[in-house]
Amino acid sequence: MPNKNQFKTHNSKLITILVTGCAGFIGSNFVPYFLEKYPNYKLINLDLLTYAGDLSNLKEVENHPRYEFIKGDITNRELVEYIFTTFDIKGVIHFAAESHVDNSIKNPEIFIQTNVNGTFTLLDVAYKYWMKKPFIHKDEYKECRFHHISTDEVYGTLSQDPKDLFTENTPYAPNSPYSASKASSDMIVRSYHETYGLDTIITNCSNNYGPKQHDEKLIPTIIRNALLQKPIPIYGDGKNIRDWLYVLDHCKGIDLAYHKGKSGETYNIGGRNEKTNIYIAQKICEILDELKPSNTSYSNLITYVEDRAGHDKRYAIDASKIENKLDWKANENFESGIVKTIEWYLKKY
Ligand SMILES: NC(=O)c1ccc[n+]([C@@H]2O[C@H](COP(=O)([O-])OP(=O)(O)OC[C@H]3O[C@@H](n4cnc5c(N)ncnc54)[C@H](O)[C@@H]3O)[C@@H](O)[C@H]2O)c1
Repeated sequence: MPNKNQFKTHNSKLITILVTGCAGFIGSNFVPYFLEKYPNYKLINLDLLTYAGDLSNLKEVENHPRYEFIKGDITNRELVEYIFTTFDIKGVIHFAAESHVDNSIKNPEIFIQTNVNGTFTLLDVAYKYWMKKPFIHKDEYKECRFHHISTDEVYGTLSQDPKDLFTENTPYAPNSPYSASKASSDMIVRSYHETYGLDTIITNCSNNYGPKQHDEKLIPTIIRNALLQKPIPIYGDGKNIRDWLYVLDHCKGIDLAYHKGKSGETYNIGGRNEKTNIYIAQKICEILDELKPSNTSYSNLITYVEDRAGHDKRYAIDASKIENKLDWKANENFESGIVKTIEWYLKKY
């Protein structure tokens, strides 16, 4: 675990952390937050810039003296080794992934390559760079930690009973190629802790929303189509439930788990904001009707479309562990976070 003394003063030595996939949605919200909060950290962002990565998401930090971008693939072992040795990496926070369930149904292979093989490559290079042999660290790497960012989708789907919630002890039951690839990567992380004693943390988070999310995802699609007066597609009967978390609340949870979480543990992060997809669409239309009125309500554009194959009915997180053990709490509820989000997209679209 990183030693708190490591970032006590502004002048002490910089600690370099490898962050992956930070040209994407969550990472690009995380990087400015983390750079600002920890003046002793330097961040190296390794991102392949797939269709989901966009460097304009990181405009505010592109010239930051403690930030560096490297374009490359997390499955490229040679490159990952080069980065560890060149920058003397002392921590990893791993966001990079193929992340869109619909794409995983059409083209699962890249999900296995990136999410499974990529996570393995990072773990194995970290283990060999930081440790001499199982459970024995090299002297200067005793505090190094590998934090894997994962999803609640690994747990499968829930019944409609509000008391039925995902806890850290819920058995894994992934249903899509995306969630199966994330579940597999979680298992590999676990094995590196159990077998080699690597200092690992896994956080499994619910659906995020906020600025900088890719156009393909639900909330940006609703906002964009409404503004373009195009049909707003809602899968099936619109009653699928997700537990929505404002992206900065997720970033704060990652920060806490990275610094204070217990090695080898998993923490679920979720906002206790269960909403049906149709509620989300209607709420966004209602807010847009006020912020950018049109001749008729945007809600007239809502159109039900054929359901996603294997569409999980309900996800909801029990966040008690991170709340009680690490003192994490979501600052936004859906109704407050969505207004900030819509205001951001109104500037973008
Ligand atoms: N978005 C959510 O609601 C959510 C919720 C829980 C967990 N997560 C997890 O959080 C992480 C980040 O999600 P996101 O929504 O920001 O994803 P995203 O799709 O917006 O961004 C993924 C980033 O990873 C990069 N990338 C993809 N393949 C790569 C490779 N082979 N090498 C290097 N970089 C590569 C992409 O270029 C992109 O910048 C993922 O691991 C995801 O599973 C996301």
